[in-house]
Amino acid sequence: MTAKLKNLISAADLSAEHVKILFDLTDKYKNYLAESKTRGIPIEVEPLRDRTLALIFEKPSLRTRVTFMVGMAQLGGLAIDIRAEQVLQGRETIADVSRNLDRWVDALVARTFKHRTVLELAKYARIPVINALSDLEHPCQVLADFYTIRQIKGENWKEIKLVYIGDGNNVCHSLLLLTANLGGQMTVATPPKYDPKDSILRIAKKKAQATGATLKFTHDVKEAVKGADFVYTDVWTSMGFEAEREQRRTAFGPFQVNEALMSLAKPDAKFLHCLPAKRGEEVVDGVIDGPHSAVFDQAENRLHVQKALLVHLLT
Ligand code: CP
Ligand code: NVA
Repeated sequence: MTAKLKNLISAADLSAEHVKILFDLTDKYKNYLAESKTRGIPIEVEPLRDRTLALIFEKPSLRTRVTFMVGMAQLGGLAIDIRAEQVLQGRETIADVSRNLDRWVDALVARTFKHRTVLELAKYARIPVINALSDLEHPCQVLADFYTIRQIKGENWKEIKLVYIGDGNNVCHSLLLLTANLGGQMTVATPPKYDPKDSILRIAKKKAQATGATLKFTHDVKEAVKGADFVYTDVWTSMGFEAEREQRRTAFGPFQVNEALMSLAKPDAKFLHCLPAKRGEEVVDGVIDGPHSAVFDQAENRLHVQKALLVHLLT
């Protein structure tokens, strides 16, 4: 029996059993919300009444901030948004920020430039810490992504072919780790020099050996997309890498997801993107707004899976 999660720092923390528990809980809270909206009356399900969640974001956010705040409100708790520039930039140590917050709030959500800042916050907090995106990973995103995949194709993970096109970045890392844990199939097509980090590949490959997952890596984007059930991309220039924008636009040009590339995937393939998208760069309007796109289901599911995560960590 997999132990209950204490934190969510890396997608590697999520075993197949955790995912099953979290997705069942997600279904439950998603249904409560739908029922309360259909019936037009509030349904009293407030497992986090009197609980407080602190958010600290060093980088911009729409989806992650709003879904954690709305999710906490729907569960009967309170979320407070702390200004990162006032607390994480040298006024006191990260360890002391963590030790203080630990005395007032029940959980902490942190979006940081450096992954080691999230690790440091978690090291000194007795309360749960959730990685809301670092330079290395985005575990909350990929929980919502796999929940979306399950809605569309079911949970026979080993039969589902996910193809990731573009930058071997934080989102790609977390997708690889969760695919490995679930025993799925993932192909990553990046330009040369933009491969996922070796430290992540080592962990993902080791886990894949244990679960039977198939992980493939290529620089040939057309070959990668053949037979895909899901084609996933992300921005070419992630937050924190803006100085490289021009050189990245050149390197990533052939990796744009457009109608011609999508036509190489399965006829019923879906297009995924964590958002925000740079339309006209990594994806064209015809794909992101087209019949194959599931991007707003992914965005919606951020709310539902994170509510499940909060209930799992806090009750
Ligand atoms: N996908 C995602 O994390 O979006 P935000 O950066 O808007 O939170
Ligand atoms: N890879 C992107 C994801 C944004 C949600 C970034 O880090 O900017």
